[in-house]
Amino acid sequence: MKRVLLTGATGYIGSHVAVELVNAGYDVIGVDNFSNSTPAVLGGIGKILGKNIDFMEVDCTDANAFAKVFDRYPDIEAAIHFAAYKAVGESVAQPLKYFRNNLHSFENLVELMVTRGKGANIVFSSSATVYGQPALDELPIVEQQPFQEASSPYARTKQMAEGILKDCVNAYPNLNATVLRYFNPIGAHPSALIGELPNGVPNNLVPFITQTAAGIRECLSVFGNDYNTPDGSCIRDYIYVVDLAKAHVKAVDKMLSEGARWNVYNLGTGKGLSVLELVNAFIRATGVELKFRIAERRPGDVEQYWADPSKANCELGWSADTPIEEVLLSAWRWQQGLKG
Ligand code: UD1
Repeated sequence: MKRVLLTGATGYIGSHVAVELVNAGYDVIGVDNFSNSTPAVLGGIGKILGKNIDFMEVDCTDANAFAKVFDRYPDIEAAIHFAAYKAVGESVAQPLKYFRNNLHSFENLVELMVTRGKGANIVFSSSATVYGQPALDELPIVEQQPFQEASSPYARTKQMAEGILKDCVNAYPNLNATVLRYFNPIGAHPSALIGELPNGVPNNLVPFITQTAAGIRECLSVFGNDYNTPDGSCIRDYIYVVDLAKAHVKAVDKMLSEGARWNVYNLGTGKGLSVLELVNAFIRATGVELKFRIAERRPGDVEQYWADPSKANCELGWSADTPIEEVLLSAWRWQQGLKG
């Protein structure tokens, strides 16, 4: 069995990818420093799989501690890098915290994979935020679309890390890389044993919806209904986290079988959904009452964008097609489990 290293393995996306990789027959070594997750996530992964994954508590910015993972597991052939801070607003207030953590951990990973990995295949967890606000005639977004000026230090870390990886692929002949640009990941594992664990008041839409439905928050604010969209609210491409996780398995499969040196893929459904459409889908799917009101626009929000995922559809043999009601129901079941 081939071994895959996951940094940020107990985070929202990392935990779902750990499950899918093991189900696909890979050995996993997960690392995390629990800066935005808890050891209980390992229990959830273990329950779903019926066995625990190998795990080490490591801060990836600490190169010496990180190297110990390679001492213990000299058979790592691929790595998926999730370990990063992701709060856009916090990144604006504390940019150095983001550059130090998100870039330094990534540089350490690349160096260790190139010098110590049995193979040096890296999948980097990027984001649609690298594209900025596309013009209407640039929708849906294709991978070739040039980056715009980063809208936040968080966005800049994603742009910079992609650039660092490209330079390293050019410099180190044994290094292969795949960049996955996520649109808006939502939902939870159907078992309701793992899901998103927002820290404090959620910034993202779906955790705010589920917490409001659960009575933890009083009312959802829909940020703006005067955008240039059919119902006036912003449009995004919401992708089910389990569909997203499966794309990572396909990306690793492809790298290990074909050894492609550099690939970039958009991971989205290809369909845009407005905030109001999502709210209505949640109510329809769960039958739960949801208090919401129209509020001011949120500064920094992009009006509308969605992916052209056809490159991932064709080259990875993958698509994200779980119905939105099923996705929102999974988020709701996860929220209900947290309450109890
Ligand atoms: C943000 C980040 C993105 C990151 C993603 C997931 C940017 C510009 N965006 O995306 O990089 O990958 O989070 O972590 O860097 N909304 C409400 N009420 C709320 C919360 C959100 O109406 O209480 C609306 C927002 O205005 C937006 C939509 O819901 O139109 C989605 O917001 P959110 O879930 O925060 O994701 P993004 O801002 O799209």
